Amino acid sequence: MDPMLTMAVRAARAAGDLIVRYVDRVDTLTISPKGRNDFVSEVDRKAEQEIVGILSKAYPDHAFLGEEGGRHGLPKGEFTWVIDPLDGTTNFLHGFPQFAVSIGLLYRGRIECGVVYDPMRGELFTATRGGGAMLDNRRLRVTKQTTFHGALLGTGFPFKDQRHNDAYFGMFREFMKDTAGIRRAGSAALDLAWVACGRMDGFWELGLMPWDIAAGVLLIQEAGGIVTDLEGGNRYLETGHVLTANPKLHVLMKEAIAPHLTDALRYRVPLGDKAEAE
Ligand code: IPD
Ligand code: CA
Ligand code: CA
Repeated sequence: MDPMLTMAVRAARAAGDLIVRYVDRVDTLTISPKGRNDFVSEVDRKAEQEIVGILSKAYPDHAFLGEEGGRHGLPKGEFTWVIDPLDGTTNFLHGFPQFAVSIGLLYRGRIECGVVYDPMRGELFTATRGGGAMLDNRRLRVTKQTTFHGALLGTGFPFKDQRHNDAYFGMFREFMKDTAGIRRAGSAALDLAWVACGRMDGFWELGLMPWDIAAGVLLIQEAGGIVTDLEGGNRYLETGHVLTANPKLHVLMKEAIAPHLTDALRYRVPLGDKAEAE
């Protein structure tokens, strides 16, 4: 295994073990609000410290972007670890057993390796660019579903930022008409891992953060799937809007979404980059 992936796995397992130790003690935790419908517990923070401790010891010249700790390490480092120590905090706090540790590694801004670890099922999803995606020892492939008829889609509700509700529910209505079902399981990192391993045929969500998706994106790409923003471009890390499926279903999903796209959901070139883009 790639040495950096090995370290990421070690860190993800350590964080997962820590999270599991608190599963039956959620009522003893200090929980603080971070924003609208957004909470953080000391488990999120401890798990991130565990991960960063392991990775920064092994790679002192790497940079880090963690959900709880923000950016640190060498600001101009070529390698950046993107970490969600506990993806699915609301589930965790309710004893709803669907959450994961997500660790992605960017090299010059490109995702090179990723780990999503589900500590309740003990399932380890890993990927390296060009090296394939695995669930434990099994190679992953996305599904071959080519129609909405019979397709199972995943999504996340935009409960933290409700500005795009009309557009989102327009898309939802569109998919609900023809698919076999839509699941909202509450951990975007696991949702992506489950598309990669074929438990769901496709997924879309608005407003995700880099730490929710960095690892999962590579899992899907390495499993033969397509990941884009809602317009079909590659600005998913910047916009946080994600659309993913196998290549054929992705086209259908993109077409179904298109009539519901608003200007606010389209990618806009940031002012500083304008000259470059023109
Ligand atoms: C959340 C989960 C959820 C998604 C939210 C995320 P968190 O992450 O991934 O599925 O819908 O947008 O913020 O806050 O539990 O790490
Ligand atoms: Ca998250
Ligand atoms: Ca989190």
